[in-house]
Amino acid sequence: MAYPKITVVGAGNVGATAAFIASEKGLGDVVLMDIVEGLAEGKALDMAQAKAVYPAAGRLIGTRDWAAAADSDIVIITSGLARKPGMSRDDLLANNARIVKSVTEQVVRSSPQAMIIVVSNPLDVMTYVAAKVSGFDKRRVMGMAGALDSARFACFIAEQLGVSVGDVQGVLMGGHGDDMVPLPRYTTVAGIALTELMAAETIEALIERTRKGGIEIVNLLGTSAYYAPAAGAVRMAEAILNDTRQVMSCCVYCDGAYGISGEYVGVPAMLSAGGVEKVIELELNDTERAMFDASAAHVRQLTEKVDTII
Ligand code: 2OP
Repeated sequence: MAYPKITVVGAGNVGATAAFIASEKGLGDVVLMDIVEGLAEGKALDMAQAKAVYPAAGRLIGTRDWAAAADSDIVIITSGLARKPGMSRDDLLANNARIVKSVTEQVVRSSPQAMIIVVSNPLDVMTYVAAKVSGFDKRRVMGMAGALDSARFACFIAEQLGVSVGDVQGVLMGGHGDDMVPLPRYTTVAGIALTELMAAETIEALIERTRKGGIEIVNLLGTSAYYAPAAGAVRMAEAILNDTRQVMSCCVYCDGAYGISGEYVGVPAMLSAGGVEKVIELELNDTERAMFDASAAHVRQLTEKVDTII
């Protein structure tokens, strides 16, 4: 098999960090792209020099030229505006829809066989835009949010219990918004259900902090998070490239699963060399089901709006 090629579109905070992690993990050749002159080139040059300190396989280039992205196996789309304090992810809809549309058109031309991982916000709707514009098989287009949101949940749980974060498996689904649905019944610490280890009110407080996890960072930094979002996107790319069949929450096309037909929304899914191998259907109780339905309805509403823009 040829050495994998991963293109990261957008050399802002998320894109550059994703390129750096993928490069340092030696996942493949990494192409970092941006339309701003010098940005991708400069950052990639710096990262290539970091590879001389921490050597890893694969080459790394920064460019504005789509020719360099030709025949990528995976394209991670991070392009678009990030939110500022006072903004919701939904406020980015119109601008980012146009940007993601135009990037996706380039992806289709340069890498018709690629898998697309979308990171731009509002995430679920931008994943829909990439899927619609590309016309790719639905298993090849997905969005990264669940990996980030469940990592946030796991991080807060580990901190609260004083356990290793590596032992925590946060499970969460729904859209990437304040109405996301963390699932404490399915969340475990070294295989033990979270509900056995923590009082209900403490769990509720951590769920609330997870839901507001993005804005907590925006308010501290003045811009959106990037280390954990980038790590989440690379983790998905790694699962696909190494055919690990790992299950993680991702924004994927649901066709019947969870009673959703024809919508991109966050659910637990297995990733393999074929992309989205399958959606894992959990048994939801009435409360969880109502929260998931509300979150999916919110995504549907935005999706209808974006259809008038692209
Ligand atoms: C976040 O939740 C970037 O939307 C992303 O931080």
